[in-house]
Amino acid sequence: MTAARIDVHLEPSWWRTTLEHDVRTGLVAEQRSIPAKWFYDEIGCQLFDDITKLDEYYPFRAERDILATRANEIVAVAEADTLVELGSGTSEKSRVLLDAMADAHVLKRYVPFDVSEETLRSAADQIATDYPGTAVHGIVGDFDRHIPLVPIGGTGMVAFLGSTIGNFEPSARKRFIADVVAALEPDGTFLLGTDLVKDPDRLWAAYNDAKGVTAQFNLNMLTMINRELNADFDLDQFEHAADWDADNEWIDIRVRSKVAQTVQVRDLDLVVEFATGEEMKTEISAKFRLGGIAAELEAAGLAVVEQWTDSYGDFAVTLARKR
Ligand code: SAH
Ligand code: TRP
Repeated sequence: MTAARIDVHLEPSWWRTTLEHDVRTGLVAEQRSIPAKWFYDEIGCQLFDDITKLDEYYPFRAERDILATRANEIVAVAEADTLVELGSGTSEKSRVLLDAMADAHVLKRYVPFDVSEETLRSAADQIATDYPGTAVHGIVGDFDRHIPLVPIGGTGMVAFLGSTIGNFEPSARKRFIADVVAALEPDGTFLLGTDLVKDPDRLWAAYNDAKGVTAQFNLNMLTMINRELNADFDLDQFEHAADWDADNEWIDIRVRSKVAQTVQVRDLDLVVEFATGEEMKTEISAKFRLGGIAAELEAAGLAVVEQWTDSYGDFAVTLARKR
């Protein structure tokens, strides 16, 4: 197998310090919460991959269909020789774009960026093998800190797919978009995948699947804390909760304590009391409207080139160019 070049910006010591800080801060706060990036250990990445295959989880297929239908158009308009994918995971959807770039004889470089080192390494090596002659330069980093270090180059297209942008709070979303715009050269492009506001029942089902895979994914956060920080969360005494918040137009994802209980996090010397029904926030998943997406991108210094939706109007892909 051909090896990709991988730069690791997340040193083990930084990793540990940040995890300790995030868990401590998140557990002692009045409204408990753990940042979503900690979902994606190896098991979490596998469970997310399982989510993408669920009947209820339409966003993955809707976005892939848009990309499959529009890839040639996107590539022709973007005129990019480099594809950067932020939060690339298994890079499955990147392949649709890479194929179109290869067909158009413009593909030179692929830059996947993800917090999950194992997943990124295997995806990057596989792409390097499958696209010989393409330079693959992976970056292991955190959206919060390392966007300025992404080697986009002069004619890069930065893709941010999977509606991962919906997982930021509005203020973090604004900062993230500003970081991307700052990292782009003039005429560089941003390709953004966003899930759209729709029937609340379908939104609810996408985060409460019948097989319970989403619940497993959410609760895996507690397993990770048990393992990494020597904690004793009892997985049977917590449950998954995900509901549509109509005012904010986002899905609110939490873990809920089923009983009154005490949890110890030994590595942090921390004892935490949970009341019956007490919740800890793990994620939001914001849903968007076409006009709102365009307005946010324009406000950040991008010109919206085109917006595509799937035939059901469930999901949108927006292409924008730096002014
Ligand atoms: N783009 C893929 C995967 C989406 S899942 C798709 O559309 O299917 C979200 C991805 O973002 C995961 O691979 C996760 O590891 C990564 N991620 C989450 N938080 C991150 C952060 N703070 N910094 C970098 N990557 C992050
Ligand atoms: N970006 C995905 C989304 O918002 C992430 C995701 C899917 C997710 N299912 C989840 C996050 C369940 C937490 C819990 O749809």
